[in-house]
Amino acid sequence: MRSHDTPEVSRFAAMRRALAQARDVGYRRWGRDFIDLGRSEPLAAWPDDRQLQRRPTADRLTRLYGPVAGWADVRASVADHYAKTLGVPLRAGNILISSGALSGLTVALSALCRPGGAVAMTVPYYHAWPSIVELMGGRPRPVPIGDGGRMTFVVPTNDRLDAVLFANPNNPTGMTHDRDALDAVTADLGPDVAVVADEVYAEYIYAPAGFTSLATVLPLQDGPDWVVVRSAAKTLGRPGLRVGVVIAPVAVIEAVTDRAAALTGSASTLAQFAFADGLAVMHAADHMRPYRSRLELALAISHTLGLTAQRPQGTFYLWVDGPGLGPVETAVRLCLEAGVFVWPGQYFGSPSHVRVSLSASRASIETGLRRIADSLDFEAVSSDA
Ligand SMILES: Cc1ncc(COP(=O)(O)O)c(C=O)c1O
Repeated sequence: MRSHDTPEVSRFAAMRRALAQARDVGYRRWGRDFIDLGRSEPLAAWPDDRQLQRRPTADRLTRLYGPVAGWADVRASVADHYAKTLGVPLRAGNILISSGALSGLTVALSALCRPGGAVAMTVPYYHAWPSIVELMGGRPRPVPIGDGGRMTFVVPTNDRLDAVLFANPNNPTGMTHDRDALDAVTADLGPDVAVVADEVYAEYIYAPAGFTSLATVLPLQDGPDWVVVRSAAKTLGRPGLRVGVVIAPVAVIEAVTDRAAALTGSASTLAQFAFADGLAVMHAADHMRPYRSRLELALAISHTLGLTAQRPQGTFYLWVDGPGLGPVETAVRLCLEAGVFVWPGQYFGSPSHVRVSLSASRASIETGLRRIADSLDFEAVSSDA
């Protein structure tokens, strides 16, 4: 077909296709010996599969178009859940249920950025952000996080800054932002700049003191526009439900709903019910249980192998540095020649590092890291020769 991709979409598509193809070939070439450290699905899920199956698929409501922002009782119970967990007086009007966090971010950014407006985003970023911003008519402006993890969002003065976008905890680095960091960012921005926090990993925190939700920092009324996005993919460990949550002041939710009415429609009725059911049973869940020991193992092995890995404060990823790690080509080569898949830093806008998922067996993490290190040793020797 004739391509009319925008620059970011073309760049993203080329990387995505090359990596998807390499992963497929890697699986075929290595069979059971292939190690996939790219997975972004959590190891645990709520509610358990038997409970989920009890929902009748022929529910009467599936014969109707539901309200665009979600069914009223689902929005109310989701608002109740986040009001309790965040300590903020949220109501149904502060909630929109989207078809996954990706749709939530898309409709939110379409409401918050004007054509040609800049959206500053922390680097390394979640790989889809620049494309979403560009497709919504905005201009992505990657901003490196400063020393000590401080977000500054200084953008060229000839840009009109419409919004800032950051992930907390950050995918891929696992760094979190606490109240002081968020206060500093929001104080630096003018009242016309919207703040969007992608908090899909909010339940995946090793050190709770280091994380604060944006929803607890900015007011529900008479303040700047803000949006927090969450996802059933991580909160319930069920990416296949395709449910996201947009939390925001009522006026923002109304504007976002207008965009969703044109762009996405409402989320699946059955998925909304399953999401509300899941939130009700996961209050005692320890999302980090599978990852604490895996993290210690991965840090220890990385250290032994000479790979540099900073201890993350959240997510279930390890952001690993080593000579030459970072380019898509390295990830493709690792996949085909070393039988291990990891997402390269370049995919997240960073020239170095790879993202290693801890959502894998301990044996896979150990062997995968060894294969990465061995392959780098080999590279170093061949380039010296
Ligand atoms: C930071 C971040 N934002 C958004 C998403 C998309 O979430 P969803 O699967 O709900 O669309 C992901 C998925 O992994 C993510 O890591």
